[in-house]
Amino acid sequence: MKKVQDYYFKKAKKEGYPARSVYKLEETDRKYHLLRKGDTVLDLGAYPGSWTRYAARIAGPGGLVVAVDLRRVRDMGKNVKNLEANVLEIDPARLRRIRRHFDVVLSDMAPKTTGRRDVDHYRSVELAERALFLAEELLARRGTFFCKIFQGEDLPAFRDRCREQFDSVRMVKPKSSRPESVEVFLLCRCFSPPRS
Ligand SMILES: C[S@@+](CC[C@H](N)C(=O)[O-])C[C@H]1O[C@@H](n2cnc3c(N)ncnc32)[C@H](O)[C@@H]1O
Repeated sequence: MKKVQDYYFKKAKKEGYPARSVYKLEETDRKYHLLRKGDTVLDLGAYPGSWTRYAARIAGPGGLVVAVDLRRVRDMGKNVKNLEANVLEIDPARLRRIRRHFDVVLSDMAPKTTGRRDVDHYRSVELAERALFLAEELLARRGTFFCKIFQGEDLPAFRDRCREQFDSVRMVKPKSSRPESVEVFLLCRCFSPPRS
């Protein structure tokens, strides 16, 4: 397995990405086409910036990626705006001032792991819940939400919450995500919130 991880590490370095996590997004994008030229993308938990760079490449000069993390992501180009902020606290109005609506909300946020599987799971769910809240606030109708979450007892309830807001919700485990890792991704397409 180490061989596979070394392969992705070297590939990322060669292709100019700061982390191998880019291949989780790239693999999913190649299969399901979640990103398009001209898209406005909100990238939550963006540091060190691999997803940001990939999304910015696909979105192109007519698109925009807003990258948010506790740590500052280094400059990734003209179509990227970096925000150093805590996603659990950020006011959606601040993001709305940048763009009224986003086509895609990505979240690769992960808590600092403690080694206690249940604690790590609950913290990951808290981050995923917050990402879903921001997606609900900011996504354009029919928009896409792609979110990392650690497996555990609250995953089915989170998936059900996503199903209330999106026409299609699919669980994805990219090949480049280590099989022993508890992380999975939910790919939620076609945002269509129930009318109140
Ligand atoms: C796996 S890394 C993201 C890697 C990134 N997608 C890439 O490809 O380069 C997870 C990130 O989530 C961020 N994070 C965790 N909790 C956060 C929070 N409350 N607000 C903002 N970012 C957070 C961490 O700082 C960390 O950089």
